[in-house]
Amino acid sequence: MTARTIPANRTRNAGRLALDLGMFAALLLLLEPHATGLPVHEWLGIAISVPILTHLLLNWKWVVTVTKKMFAPMPLATRVNQGLNTFLFVATVVAIQSGVMISEIATPGIADALGTARAWRALHDVSSHAMVFGAAAHAVLHWRWIARTVGRVFGIDTTPARASSPAVATVTVGGR
Ligand code: HEM
Ligand code: HEM
Repeated sequence: MTARTIPANRTRNAGRLALDLGMFAALLLLLEPHATGLPVHEWLGIAISVPILTHLLLNWKWVVTVTKKMFAPMPLATRVNQGLNTFLFVATVVAIQSGVMISEIATPGIADALGTARAWRALHDVSSHAMVFGAAAHAVLHWRWIARTVGRVFGIDTTPARASSPAVATVTVGGR
C-alpha cells in the first residue's frame, strides 16, 4: 500500500461507514411508524432502497464472486454469511414491496383495490421485522470492520490491519 492510497482508503471507508450507519439508523426509525408519522415512514421506506442499492453496488464483487460459487463447497462461515445476506436481501425486497402495496400516502390503495390488504399487511409485519433482525445480525458479523473503521476515521486505531471477523474474513473481496 503506498502513502497515497492510505488517505484514499480512509475516505472510501468513511463513506461506506456513513452509508452503513445511516441505513441502520433509518431502519430503527422505520420500526416505529407511529413515532415518526406515516408520511415519514412511507417515504423513508421507499427512499432507503437508494442507499441499500448503493451498498450492494459497492459490494458487487462479493455478490458476483459468491453467487458464482453458490453450489461449490465453501467454509461454513462463508456459507452462513452468504445465507444471511440472501435472507436480508429477500426480506428487504418483500418489506418495501408489501409497504408499497398497503401504502396510504405515497402509493395509496393498491392492496385495497385488489382486495388483498390483510395478506399484504401481515407480510409487511413479518418481512419488516425479519429485515431488522437480519440487518442487526449482519452488523454483528461485520462488527470488527465497523469498529476498526470508526477507529481509523477518527484517528484512534491501534490494531493491525486484518479481516473484519472470522465469518467475514473468508468472503471479503476487493481488498478492503
Ligand atoms: C438491508 C440490506 C443489506 C444487504 C442486502 C446487505 C448486503 C451486504 C453484502 C452483500 C455485503 C458484502 C459481503 C459481506 O461482507 O458480507 C455487505 C457488507 C457490509 N454490510 Fe451490508 N447489507 C445490507 C444492510 C446493511 C446495514 C443496514 C448495515 C449497517 C450496519 C450493513 C453493514 C455492512 C458492512 C459494515 C459491510 C462490510 C463493509 C462495507 O462494505 O460496508 N449492511 N452487505
Ligand atoms: C425497509 C422498509 C420498511 C420497514 C423496516 C417497515 C417497518 C414497518 C413496521 C415495523 C410496521 C408496523 C407493523 C405492525 O406492527 O403491524 C410498519 C407498518 C406500516 N408500513 Fe412499513 N416499513 C417499511 C417500508 C414501508 C414502505 C415503503 C411503505 C409504503 C410506501 C410502508 C407502509 C406502512 C404502512 C401503511 C404501515 C401500517 C401503519 C399503521 O399500522 O398505521 N412501509 N412498517
